[in-house]
Amino acid sequence: MTRRWPASGQPAILRTSGVRLAALGAAVAAMGAVIVFVVIYYGTLGSLRQTLDASVTNEIGEILPQGPATPPAVAAIAIRAALAQRPSRIFYALAGPNGAPLAGNLRLPPPAPGWHTLDAPEADAFAPGVTELRVLVVRLRGGASLLVGVDGTMIRRLNDLIRRSFLIGFGLTLSLGLAAGIGFGRKALARVNAVSLASREIMAGDLSRRIPLAGTGDEFDRLAETVNAMLDRMQHLMENLGAVGNDIAHDLRSPLARLRETLELALRDPDPAAAGAAIAEAIAQVDGALALCGAILRLAQIETGARRASFSDIDLTDLLDRLVETYETVAEEAGHRLAAHVPRGLAIRGDAQLLNQMFANLIENAITHAGSAARIGLVARADPAGVTVRLTDDGPGIAPDRRGAALRRFGRLDPARHRPGYGLGLPLSAAIADLHDARFTLDAAAPGADRPGLAVTLVFPAGGVPRPG
Ligand SMILES: Nc1ncnc2c1ncn2[C@@H]1O[C@H](COP(=O)(O)OP(=O)(O)OP(=O)(O)O)[C@@H](O)[C@H]1O
Ligand SMILES: [Mg+2]
Repeated sequence: MTRRWPASGQPAILRTSGVRLAALGAAVAAMGAVIVFVVIYYGTLGSLRQTLDASVTNEIGEILPQGPATPPAVAAIAIRAALAQRPSRIFYALAGPNGAPLAGNLRLPPPAPGWHTLDAPEADAFAPGVTELRVLVVRLRGGASLLVGVDGTMIRRLNDLIRRSFLIGFGLTLSLGLAAGIGFGRKALARVNAVSLASREIMAGDLSRRIPLAGTGDEFDRLAETVNAMLDRMQHLMENLGAVGNDIAHDLRSPLARLRETLELALRDPDPAAAGAAIAEAIAQVDGALALCGAILRLAQIETGARRASFSDIDLTDLLDRLVETYETVAEEAGHRLAAHVPRGLAIRGDAQLLNQMFANLIENAITHAGSAARIGLVARADPAGVTVRLTDDGPGIAPDRRGAALRRFGRLDPARHRPGYGLGLPLSAAIADLHDARFTLDAAAPGADRPGLAVTLVFPAGGVPRPG
């Protein structure tokens, strides 16, 4: 079954977070550009206009020494004097009450009193190159009016310049932001597509497929690494599951065949006592088969890691003491000696039932496989790296090249084949150690010796809550 995201009508690239983030970033940058524009525009033009206005007011003061009460004739003289002195870009227009020009260099009927910005009606109407005037018109007593203005062309040019620069800057910010967004979006999309492709192939049954890493160590790589680790684990579990099925089918065949034989003999045997014995034997065989099924299922369950949820603080000293107490007698009855050294207060996190089973398996292995009159030792110690438990015997041990086989399910080595057992003790113990993040190693207890023995070393990570004692 394939599920697709509902099509929203937008191209995929526009729905990537990269493009959305870049669009947001570009919008914020554009907003910043607008604020900068407003500040520069009104700041620069405003102060320029203030300077111009001040020079106009100043000039009016000079032309009208008595303010609006100044007689127009006096004003006219002042204008002429000013024009003779400063043929600058200051413009005057003095008009009589009827609007007739009295003096000045501007042929213009003065507008209403107050501030104005006047556009030149045609090129060079005011003076060559002057396109805008900033003027103040004052009404004199008696009806005459005086206009004084300065060249405002600079303001207009600056205005145009600022607007143009802003439009270019604004456009660049937006387009660069969007281009970057689309670039990032494309890249992200390519990575996501690679993940989807790999996932589809995995769903189609190729469990060995992994999500490719770009090698940049970015968040995509980190995600891919985690997902790949999860896939490794799943593949391992799936393979195990398959192997468990095969193992059960394979290893139940011979007990079932034996059982059938026993029951057939019982059926044919006319002696009821012998038939009864055969049935008792059959029941024992069925019990063995049930125990085998139980062990295989337990192993499969441990390998899923589900038991980790029920971990608690374990008093390892107490657990080992009890086990040693139980197995001392068993070992003695089998002609061996079990000696233990367990310091007080060892603590780890774990599952007590499983830990019990693991150590029991290992001690039983030493009792079963270490030959006669073996010396079995159990030594535990705590150091900053964690808690180490080492179980040794002085039997024949396992040759280095046979250790892998011994750790496999149903891996029983030659000398043990005639002894009871399924070859599940070691793999079960290794799986329990793995569940506890403990390092599990097999080596020789006394390398090079006649009876090198087997040493099983378990190192539990530090982190349990130490107990006083
Ligand atoms: N202490 C030991 N000394 C020598 N050989 C050992 C020792 N422990 C295990 N082995 C070898 O490794 C094999 C696998 O051990 P494992 O515990 O998995 O199975 P088992 O003891 O034969 O059966 P089970 O534990 O299922 O009853 C054994 O059959 C034996 O050949
Ligand atoms: Mg065993």
